[in-house]
This record gives sequence, structure tokens and C-alpha cells, in this order.
Amino acid sequence: MKAHAGERLTVLISRARIARRVREIGREITREFHGEPVLLVGVLKGACIFLADLSREIALDASFDFLAAGSYGHSAETSGQVRLLKDLDTSIEGRNVILVEDILDTGVTLNYLERLLRARQPKALRVAALLDKTERRTQAFEADYVGFRIPNRFVVGYGLDYAERYRNLRDVCVVEVESGRRPRKK
Ligand code: IMP
Ligand code: MG
Repeated sequence: MKAHAGERLTVLISRARIARRVREIGREITREFHGEPVLLVGVLKGACIFLADLSREIALDASFDFLAAGSYGHSAETSGQVRLLKDLDTSIEGRNVILVEDILDTGVTLNYLERLLRARQPKALRVAALLDKTERRTQAFEADYVGFRIPNRFVVGYGLDYAERYRNLRDVCVVEVESGRRPRKK
């Protein structure tokens, strides 16, 4: 795919590495829940491609549900406030829930979502994040399954966007905006 004018894309994690790692995580989940059904909860919109691929590497009965979260105002970094934009369609009480997220950055979103879901008393709650920018953390958070730890660069592709573009790139790429402007976080 061609980059937009003034933007440059560089592959950080190739589609082959992603596929291998997603397969490994799927096997781990299959092993951990041996024979029990799981509910995959995707965080819209960024996690949808990861969830689609991961689900097909899990050899268990799997259901899907989705939620959406956003930050107040324009900067999650300054407000640290998250709100729920779309709730689940189903009850998670007593179920094995795997919360699936594209990227763990400051940790604000997943801290909020984990607390929200934990209060609904699932049987088990695990968090799978494709990417983890550990050095950006402002709130402690560890995912149970992490695809790749990455440096503090703004990335797109495989579900992740920059201004709603590039979600359909097959590789995870670093996007750089020319003329000194840096991509906004959200
Ligand atoms: P957190 O609450 O700071 O951990 O933010 C997580 C959310 O920020 C993710 O779900 C993404 O929507 C967004 N985000 C953080 N870093 C990136 C990035 O490098 N590319 C695209 N979106 C990102
Ligand atoms: Mg997101």
C-alpha cells in the first residue's frame, strides 16, 4: 500500500512474524483453557484483525463480543480518563473472557477495561495485546499474552490506524510524518 502524501511507512513487524506469533499465542490459550469455551472480547476498532486471526488459532469453542472505549477530550495522556463508548452485548459472568487489544501504551485503557470487566465476575479474565510499548506506561499494567514488545514509535497496520487510515496494512509499520510534524497519538 502506498503511504499518504507527506507520510512514510517502514515495516517494523512483518506479516510472517505476526502470523507465527499469533499462532503461538493461540496455542497457549488453547492449552490454558483446555476444552473450556472462551469469549473473545475485542476492543474496537484496532483489535479486530488480531482477534480475527487469533480466534482461528484457538482450538476451543469461541464466541466473540466487542466493546469500544475512548478518552475524554483529545489527549489520554493529560486527562487519563477513559469512557465506554460501546458496551458488550452479552453477560460475562462465570465465563472465560479474553480481552483482546491491539496495543498497550500508557496502560490507561486496559486498566479501565480490566476493572470494568472484573467487576462483572467472569470465571477467568485474561488480556491479550498484540503490541506492548512498555516504556510509555504511566499506569502499571501487564498483559497475560503479548505479541511483541516494541520501542516508542507510532505504528500502524494490522488493525492500527493513523487518522483512521492504514488499518488494512498486512505488516505493522512505523509511520513518520514529514515536515517535522509527529503523528498524533489518537
Ligand atoms: P493506552 O490507554 O495509552 O494504553 O492506549 C491504548 C490505545 O492507544 C490503543 O488502543 C490505540 O488505540 C492507541 N495507540 C497507542 N499507541 C498507538 C500507536 O502506535 N499506533 C496506533 N494507535 C496507538
Ligand atoms: Mg485501540
